[in-house]
Parts: sequence; C-alpha cells; structure tokens
Amino acid sequence: MENRKLALSGIQPTGIFTLGNYIGAVGSWKKMQQEYRCIYFIADMHSLTTIRNKEYLKSLTLKVLALLLACGLSVKQNILFIQSHVHAHAELAWVLQCSTQFGELKRMTQFKDKSLKHKDNINAGLFCYPTLMAADILLYNADVVPIGIDQKQHLELTKTIATRFNNMYGETFKIPQPYIPKVGAKIMSLSNPTKKMSKSDENSNSFISMLDPPETIMNKFKRAITDSDSNIKFSAEKPGISNLITIYSYFSNISIPEVEEKFKNKSYKDFKFAVGEIVANNLSPIQEKYNAILKDECYLKCVCEEGAEKAAQIANSTLKNVYEKIGFI
Ligand code: TYM
Repeated sequence: MENRKLALSGIQPTGIFTLGNYIGAVGSWKKMQQEYRCIYFIADMHSLTTIRNKEYLKSLTLKVLALLLACGLSVKQNILFIQSHVHAHAELAWVLQCSTQFGELKRMTQFKDKSLKHKDNINAGLFCYPTLMAADILLYNADVVPIGIDQKQHLELTKTIATRFNNMYGETFKIPQPYIPKVGAKIMSLSNPTKKMSKSDENSNSFISMLDPPETIMNKFKRAITDSDSNIKFSAEKPGISNLITIYSYFSNISIPEVEEKFKNKSYKDFKFAVGEIVANNLSPIQEKYNAILKDECYLKCVCEEGAEKAAQIANSTLKNVYEKIGFI
C-alpha cells in the first residue's frame, strides 16, 4: 500500500465550484483515489488574495468541504483538510519566496489576469501566490498534481523552485508532475467560449454551478453561445459547440468522435438539450448528498480536524528538514 504514489491538489473556496472545476480537477481527484494515496485541501489562504468578506469566506469553506465529500472524496482512505489549519504552508511559502525571483512571479499569466480583474486590490499575496502553491505541493512530496490546464504554469514554477532549492541545499524536495486530463482540461464559459468557465464570473449564465437545479442547468445550456453553423463537429474554429461536445463526452464516457457520430443528424437545439440532461442527471445525486452532509456541521468539523492533524504530521516533518537545511537553529 505504501508504495502507491501520492496525488495532491487544492481548490479555492472563492465560490461554489463549477462544472469546469469538476471536469478539470475534482473528477480526476475522485478517480485517482483507486490508484494513489491522495491529499486534497481547500485553499482558503489562497482565496484571501481576492476575498475580503469574513462571513462569505467562512460559509463557502464549509460548503466547499461538503461538496467535495458529496462528489465522492473519501476521508477514510485520504487526507482532506483546510489549508489554514496547517501552519507549515505559510512558513514554507516564506522560505520559498526568498529564493523565487521577482521576474519569475511577474511572468505568471494568472497574476496578470487577476491584476486586471481586481485593479483596486493588487496585493502582495496575489503576486506571491505561486510560492504558496509551491509550498502546498512540496510539503507533502507529491508525485502528481491533478489540475486543469490553467494551473500548469504555476506547476512549472513549482518545479523550478524545487530544483533550485535542491541544487542549493541538497536533495530535499521531490519534483512533482502535473496530471492534466486529456478531455476537459479547460472547460469554457457558456456565454463566451473563448474564456475559461470560472466560479468567480459575474455572469451566472456563463457557468454551471455544481448546485444549480436541473431547470437552471437546462436553461443555461439552451442559451449557451454557439456558432451559426449547424454541424456538431469538434474544431478550434467552433469553441462553443466543441465545449459542449467535451462536456457530453466526459459524462457519457464516450470519445469526441463518438459524440459527433451519435449526434450527426441532430440540431444544435437537440444537442444542447441532451447535454443539459446528462449534466443534470449526473449532478442531482451529488446535490442530494451535499444537502445531507451540509446539515451535519459536527461531522464537517470532525473531518477537517482529523484531516489537518494527519496533514500537519507530514508537513511539519518536511518543514523541520527544510529549516535544518537552510541553517535555522
Ligand atoms: P481553482 O480553485 O481556481 O480551481 C480548482 C481546480 O479546477 C481547475 N479548473 C478548471 N479545469 C477545467 N476547466 C475550467 N474551466 C477550470 N477552472 C478551474 C483548476 O485548474 C484547478 O485544478 N491555485 C489553485 C488552487 C491550489 C492548488 C494548490 C492546486 C492552491 N494550491 C496546490 C494544486 C496544488 C486554484 O486557484 O484552483
């Protein structure tokens, strides 16, 4: 059992997560439980870079925890915790910041995007965000990090930071590899298919929330922006319909050419209906479980306490080793 590789990943509680987060990441987390030891966490420290509302953050953190459990993450086999409960994350992030270059952080496309979006709050945390992410990963010596494509650049920087540290102080960190799904690594917005689907989008029609009721899901897909063509064909020139094909392929477990074949004589209207239906049918059981789990606050508190305890054991031991290596006495 102990020979299994370690998968680790996190999600920010900046909103109830979307179908994009599910297809690109959480769905993989669930599947990986069979083969890997898994550590997953709610990145509340990361979300402080954009959220400044105490009650909102508190309630979302618990909701996201309940939703992860409802999606099928098992706390018996894995570790599930809340980032701020394990202090080693902040401590290692500081150490890593001291060997990360200003120019490296300045090149991060997420920093550039988020600075444009939150012009009134371009804080230092937003800038240093990738070093905290590197700490999250390196503390546990993760082998693989299941993420959507938008996090790839952060993972590449994590590898650079880890390699640099190993070269300076001797072998310390394992170099992690990204695990990016072949289908669905970037689910696009339903109202602008050239943009990624995002849980913090102001236009709620642009994303499917994991908690949207079936009628809302059907309506959002009905309104989804597609091109003026009527062929259900996957292509770079047709991002809207390609996005819907990807979503259908994911939930039906059939390949993209098989989806095209299945709907070759159907209209966009019929196809959008089929996509809405398959998504609603897959989300309904998750939503039922979520509603039951969320009511049990004691259970949720217990899950994150136990998770933090197990995570801290691993993280503190890595941090101790790092402190020795860098010369802290
Ligand atoms: P976050 O909260 O933005 O997203 C969580 C995961 O969902 C993926 N994702 C998507 N995948 C496909 N299509 C989309 N439209 C889509 N939108 C988001 C993301 O790639 C991510 O895997 N920085 C991270 C959280 C984090 C983390 C970590 C992840 C903090 N520390 C350490 C891995 C390892 C983030 O903001 O994810």
